[in-house]
Amino acid sequence: MAGRKKSTDANVVAGAGGAAAKPARGRAARRAGEKSTPREKPANVAAMHDSKEVRQREHRARVEEIGHREVYELGDPTLRIHVGDCREVLSKLPEFRRSEVDLVFADPPFNWSRAYDKWDDSMPREDYLKFTREWLDVCVDALRPTGAIWVNIPDDTCAEIVMHLKSRNLAMVNWCIWHYRFGQNTTDRFINSKVHALYFCKGGKRTWNPREVLEMSDRAAIYADPRTQNKADGMPPGMRVPMDVWYGQYWGRIQGNNAERRANHDNQLPEVYLERVIRACSNEGDLVVDPFTGSGTTPVVAHALKRRFIGSEFSVDNARSALARIKAGPVRIGAAIGASTAIFEHRIKDKRRGRAGMFGVDDAAPATP
Ligand SMILES: C[S@@+](CC[C@H](N)C(=O)[O-])C[C@H]1O[C@@H](n2cnc3c(N)ncnc32)[C@H](O)[C@@H]1O
Repeated sequence: MAGRKKSTDANVVAGAGGAAAKPARGRAARRAGEKSTPREKPANVAAMHDSKEVRQREHRARVEEIGHREVYELGDPTLRIHVGDCREVLSKLPEFRRSEVDLVFADPPFNWSRAYDKWDDSMPREDYLKFTREWLDVCVDALRPTGAIWVNIPDDTCAEIVMHLKSRNLAMVNWCIWHYRFGQNTTDRFINSKVHALYFCKGGKRTWNPREVLEMSDRAAIYADPRTQNKADGMPPGMRVPMDVWYGQYWGRIQGNNAERRANHDNQLPEVYLERVIRACSNEGDLVVDPFTGSGTTPVVAHALKRRFIGSEFSVDNARSALARIKAGPVRIGAAIGASTAIFEHRIKDKRRGRAGMFGVDDAAPATP
């Protein structure tokens, strides 16, 4: 039923275990006027582990208290967001026990001391790795033989995730990079401008729809090369399957007055990213899962593309906000499909053609000759 909310415990929101004893974080911090920072690793994360026992105790109390108590639902196609720790709430679901999941997209907390509404994002490293292996296992066990899992993860935990997925006998299909051009400035080292987008499958036949996500080839965009109009690979004239480094118009981090931006979320992924993953790796009616729903980027795109969806989210406020976003619908569907991401200007010597090959304003690259 559209918009129906089932609650098995009406008290779940109030005073979610131990939160009162913690410094204001997330929305509370913003209300108190603290500066909100983008999702970038603080200079010295180790220093933030000072009172780790206290924080661990509080965190465990919140997990126990929140448990699995609220579900937000929509129909046509069915969509559910379960409030709680993904490891707890997802593994109990029949769709998980029966391994009926077609596609998992996971954008976990990076353990970078981000001010999530409820989740403690500064675990001791070993605890974070254990948490990572546990949620990965829940998702891998739930995949159909034709299913796939994508994980959005930065440099510092990427290797461990690759190793774990390989140890679970999954096959790597692509190791993509999401490249953005507004990383946090630093002079100490090179500036971060990417996150890894890992694409693994069970190894046999998998769902793959390249024609759903084509982009204009550089050869067509820059040179208008007539050979691109008659392609031997069976793709339409001038088009190609996107490369494994993703950037371009609408692919920047969601910040400022971006039309996609949701209040109180610093970690939103762009809709075009999820659209590419969902279109390429699932079909209408398939079951898509996001264990870390956040602002709802995966479900808003999945629902609009007529996929079924199951998500989990530790923060009840985030889950509610995601549902409101899903009802409002996505703002960029189709915006990047078929576009060019060429980084050079069109080289045909007709000045009137302008910069046909350049990508857009959000993330514009220099026009290197
Ligand atoms: C990086 S954000 C996800 C952002 C999302 N991809 C988007 O575009 O909005 C991670 C989210 O996972 C939630 N979270 C953290 N740990 C969780 C857990 N164990 N189970 C469920 N959700 C969790 C956080 O509250 C946060 O909203």
